[in-house]
Amino acid sequence: MAAHRIYYFSGTGNSLWIARKIQASLPDAEVISITKDLLADLAAQDPKSVQNFETIGLVFPVYMFKPPHIVLEFLQKMPNADYIYSVATCGTGPGKSLTAVKNTLLRFGKTLSAGYIIPLVSNFIVLPKTKSDSAIEKSFKNAEPKTQFIAQNVQNRVIWLDKEMPGLIVKPISWFLFNPAYRQIPKSDKRFSISGKCNNCGTCRDVCPVRNIKLTPSKPVFLHGCEMCFSCLSWCPQKAINWTPLTKNKKRYHCREITENDLISARHYKAAEND
Ligand SMILES: Cc1cc2nc3c(=O)[nH]c(=O)nc-3n(C[C@H](O)[C@H](O)[C@H](O)COP(=O)(O)O)c2cc1C
Repeated sequence: MAAHRIYYFSGTGNSLWIARKIQASLPDAEVISITKDLLADLAAQDPKSVQNFETIGLVFPVYMFKPPHIVLEFLQKMPNADYIYSVATCGTGPGKSLTAVKNTLLRFGKTLSAGYIIPLVSNFIVLPKTKSDSAIEKSFKNAEPKTQFIAQNVQNRVIWLDKEMPGLIVKPISWFLFNPAYRQIPKSDKRFSISGKCNNCGTCRDVCPVRNIKLTPSKPVFLHGCEMCFSCLSWCPQKAINWTPLTKNKKRYHCREITENDLISARHYKAAEND
């Protein structure tokens, strides 16, 4: 078993890209996807038999200034390590997502030793496009040295916390806008629609990290346990999935260096049980 473990959650590949870059600079590290299967396995494990690692990293996308629901759930069950660090990937507003990780870990007797923010590109397709292709490329290029810096800090067990957004900005936006929306995320899939272009190929079901999509003879259906990662919408080969009319005719985004097979192969280690 590897000395360093990096857990990640990723809808459109940004966080997986970061996790892999850290892994590349860290000898003897393995990268594991946070899925419902993983949570079930951890819940079923005898606490005495849980493997502790030298270091554990957690890479995730920021959703409405917070870590995704499944990441907060994972923090309650995850194995311990002498050195735990976290990396939040985001568009431009990380909010207080590292603080949320730190506080959740504390409640479960664990300590966050280091936290990093890496702005990449927003996959929140509903908003107007903010970055050109060349700006996106630049964001990834700029992020690469930071992953090396993180790996070096991990090896040296450096205590670190990147500066988050000021509370004066985060609190009012969270209270009035983001917190109510964040609570609605699991049921946000009610706003997905499937157009006539769907050929029932099953890609959406396969890329969904939380098994929230089931195929029926006519079309995929959503099961209301969504993480709002937009994986289904982004990887659909027919561009048949929309989230409200706001996403119609919008260019789909995913990290250029990650394929849907990267996500599928990592996620479905219990593929036979799928569906
Ligand atoms: C539902 C949702 C909410 C988001 N909220 C934020 C946010 O509050 N601040 C921000 O900077 N980016 C936000 N983003 C953008 C993602 O954090 C960012 O694109 C991330 O790198 C995506 O990672 P992934 O490709 O691994 O899924 C949001 C994206 C989604 C889908």
